[in-house]
Amino acid sequence: MLEYSFHAPGAPERELAGTGVKAKGVEHVGLLPTGCTTRCTKINKSMYIRKRETYHLLSVKMATSSSHVENYDASKFWIAPARNFRTSARLHLQHFLFQNTIGYLLEPTIEESLAASSRPLNVADLACGNGIWLTELHSHFAKNNISAQLDGFDINPVNFPDAAYLPDSVSIKQLDILAKPLPADLIGIYDMVHIRAFVSVIPDGDLTPILSVASDLLKPGGFLQWEETRGDKWVVESPSPQVSKLACESIVQVLEGGQKAQGINNEWVDVLDTCLGQFGFQDARLLSQKKRKQDYKGWTEDYLMVWEECAAFFPPKSQASNAPLTREVWTEMFANSVKETEQGVAVHQGKVVTVVGRRPQ
Ligand SMILES: C[S@@+](CC[C@H](N)C(=O)[O-])C[C@H]1O[C@@H](n2cnc3c(N)ncnc32)[C@H](O)[C@@H]1O
Repeated sequence: MLEYSFHAPGAPERELAGTGVKAKGVEHVGLLPTGCTTRCTKINKSMYIRKRETYHLLSVKMATSSSHVENYDASKFWIAPARNFRTSARLHLQHFLFQNTIGYLLEPTIEESLAASSRPLNVADLACGNGIWLTELHSHFAKNNISAQLDGFDINPVNFPDAAYLPDSVSIKQLDILAKPLPADLIGIYDMVHIRAFVSVIPDGDLTPILSVASDLLKPGGFLQWEETRGDKWVVESPSPQVSKLACESIVQVLEGGQKAQGINNEWVDVLDTCLGQFGFQDARLLSQKKRKQDYKGWTEDYLMVWEECAAFFPPKSQASNAPLTREVWTEMFANSVKETEQGVAVHQGKVVTVVGRRPQ
């Protein structure tokens, strides 16, 4: 990311810092903090203009540290005490957005095989959050007269529904699924293991721990189904050229820059079937489904909630006045992003990937 410093002629005290963005091949710079992401047009190498005011560029340099985002450990996000009903509400929304995109709880070939079984099934959902996938699966199985024990595991119980409200067939327990050893009574007992939205917990892209757990829990011949989105890539769309999307693009630039600086890369999501195959799963297949346009608003709201929470990762000006991005600046960028989304700007991650595979017999 580039850091820009400006001053307005005759008003040196109005020195500004801005985040550089490029839109349609023309360089625009969001001026911070006074006019956060208000479009500023480049006139020549050193002059920018915004609302008839001219600003002189003092310097442009590569940001050495974009923010505390670089110190932020995404894998620890979920166990932080700040996770609460808002996180859970977001997961409920995200569940329905996933379902709208892929159209099934169980991938059809897995469902066909499981439905053919005459004995009661065992299904595990790893990192189950508030258990919404399991409770919906319970209703689906009940409608189709499929008998099953449905077990959810998550490291953080804060979002679990009370057991009194869960169907008898659903149990949700606190468990760090990556801690060794796994409870012995769970080994090799599941007909199917489900994983969804676990990408942020694997910042280094090392899939061996999670695939080992899935494989250990499955019976021989059992199925793994994993749905994921790329957490490192965002798409920002404006409904028309007249509607600015600069504030949303600036936020995406900061987040993507922070992840890049940390070496986070989710490219493995696009080749997850190959990863499953290399690990030893059989019949590994990847299905890729584009998000529906009518769901863009819902996805956008889901991400806005994440961005709002991200404010905590930036230092307040009072603690770090020289920080390239203070909490105040982030909050202003966020407020401007919200305004853009109210004009129809959408933020999403393009597609959902489902991968299925089978533990060898
Ligand atoms: C993005 S949420 C997804 C929740 C759920 N799979 C869904 O799709 O609704 C990620 C979940 O992973 C859980 N998690 C993170 N690390 C974990 C670990 N080591 N063991 C178990 N759960 C973990 C978090 O507590 C959080 O509920």
